[in-house]
Amino acid sequence: MQERHVLGIDVGASGIKGAVVDIETGELLNERIRLETPEPSTPEAMAETFAELVRAHNWRGLVGCGFPAIVKKGVAHSAANISKEWIGRNIIEVFSLAAGCPVEVLNDADAAGLAEMRFGLGKGQDGLVLMITIGSGLGSALFIDGQLVPNTEFGHIYLEGQKAVAEAYASNNARKRENLSWEEWGQRFNEYLLHLERTLNPDLILLSGGASKRFDRFESFITGETPVKPARLLNAAGTIGAAVYAYQRLRKG
Ligand code: BGC
Repeated sequence: MQERHVLGIDVGASGIKGAVVDIETGELLNERIRLETPEPSTPEAMAETFAELVRAHNWRGLVGCGFPAIVKKGVAHSAANISKEWIGRNIIEVFSLAAGCPVEVLNDADAAGLAEMRFGLGKGQDGLVLMITIGSGLGSALFIDGQLVPNTEFGHIYLEGQKAVAEAYASNNARKRENLSWEEWGQRFNEYLLHLERTLNPDLILLSGGASKRFDRFESFITGETPVKPARLLNAAGTIGAAVYAYQRLRKG
């Protein structure tokens, strides 16, 4: 195991995925392993799955973790799509105790954004870059001249006429749950992007996570002026970004 190799784990509401990452190149050094997120997704149950994933990699070194919540100093401050028992819990403590490894943690969308800015389409992009991850929820990562503004929650804004937050209306889960066609969902997602465009004025919007792989199915419904592109790293972004983040934290001491 080399110092520049870090196990990246992307904790999601439906799956927990991990791979060893070369943080210099962003390459995955093995096939990603995916385990189902336990239901209910309590800290104790998730810690067991996390530890199982670490064991499956036969890993004892540093682990970087993307987690689907507002994360400040390792503590979860929200739990939109996971057990509410997470709120106030120290994710670093819960996972590092279970896995027996040092763990660093950040928001999952921020992790995906970090990877895409470093190794993908965001590389060298100045100005305001907004990445939206389309999965069980809608995650967001915002960058100003390449610098992350952590813990933005643009999946939780309200769209005109809607009684629930945007992710309940325009996430990939909403598409599946309501059995929407790509056109119906694409129009909803477009409404969402137009609202973000009007309020944030980004220079570039990148899409990541589940539905971004099907960009060809909904691209024609996107009508805003800001360029919108599917991220290059697709599903591996969260895993890679989590590993890069952990390495950077370690370096800072
Ligand atoms: C959470 C975010 C997370 C996103 C994607 C949202 O429901 O509030 O923190 O980044 O889902 O997992």
